[in-house]
Amino acid sequence: MKTIGLKIEKKKAEETRRKMEKYIRKDLSPKVEKGYVIFPLTERTEGYKIVEAEFRKREPQRERKLKILTKGILSGMDIIGDIAILELKDISAEKEKEIGMELLKAHPNIKAVYKKLGAMEGKFRVRKLGWLAGEKRTVTEYRESGARIMLDVAKVYFSPRLSAERNRIKELVKDGEVVLSLFAGVGPYPLVIAKERDVEIYAVELNPDAVEYLKKNIEINKLKGKIHPIKGDVREVVPKQLRRKGDRVIMSLPMKGSEFLEECVKGAKEGGIVHFYTLLSRGEKPDEIFKRIQKAAENTGRTAGILNWKKVRPYSPSKIQIVIDFRVT
Ligand SMILES: C[S@@+](CC[C@H](N)C(=O)[O-])C[C@H]1O[C@@H](n2cnc3c(N)ncnc32)[C@H](O)[C@@H]1O
Repeated sequence: MKTIGLKIEKKKAEETRRKMEKYIRKDLSPKVEKGYVIFPLTERTEGYKIVEAEFRKREPQRERKLKILTKGILSGMDIIGDIAILELKDISAEKEKEIGMELLKAHPNIKAVYKKLGAMEGKFRVRKLGWLAGEKRTVTEYRESGARIMLDVAKVYFSPRLSAERNRIKELVKDGEVVLSLFAGVGPYPLVIAKERDVEIYAVELNPDAVEYLKKNIEINKLKGKIHPIKGDVREVVPKQLRRKGDRVIMSLPMKGSEFLEECVKGAKEGGIVHFYTLLSRGEKPDEIFKRIQKAAENTGRTAGILNWKKVRPYSPSKIQIVIDFRVT
């Protein structure tokens, strides 16, 4: 059927799809055309190239089949680049494979389907995965806010669910800042920030695989000289190389947040801001954590002023992930 569509370069397609989701027709399939994707629209939108194009009807049958097949079984799904990672209840191996195959048919942009075999574990916060369908490949490229993020979902930590939080931090960063990204992983925070801001970022990470992808991502995003990758333990690197260096410190190891509070404080300049991620029991207020922050600051001869805190996302049935922003003086 012929109708209006939003035409966008392939590399910006995923990000645009997320931004413009409410204007994109679900009954028609997007069209791929020589380096571009055209999304069928419900109405004309501002700020994008609008074209007339012929679109194919989506196959609602496949979607419906998938919904029926996964009802009460699928409790979550992450799509990272072209890899889908499913959270499935205990079912037979045949049924798991069937779900994987149906997912591939219903979503041609997904090329490999895995299931979670447990929680994130170990100091590198990596999860075991089981292959279900499609390509047997765990390396993919994910795009966020104009940044290309390459990673191996089986060897490093990465969560697409933190994109709104990364965007929040990017919006707070001003040109000219020095930013410390502690526990940087493959670099989603530094990449998203450095793509849009004139900054210098030190990214510290312990997992050698994550550091390799971080370096690769710096290269493919042409951010050499703006992001400095440092392979090492935050506990050693901050006191030795990054003391009082950051206008902003991003501390993204929520599981062990409180153990590294002093390092966060040590890394902040006079007046520097720390974005501190940690876990909180549902229904509790973070008063105890505020006290721990003050104590950590006192231990390093400084003070901490809490600016604000907010929920980032649900973490487990009993816990939520929160971020506390505080200023070090
Ligand atoms: C929860 S992940 C966050 C990664 C990244 N910031 C992101 O949002 O995708 C925490 C990261 O900290 C790294 N890590 C754990 N302990 C560390 C330490 N002592 N020093 C440096 N990195 C560490 C892990 O390997 C992991 O990549």
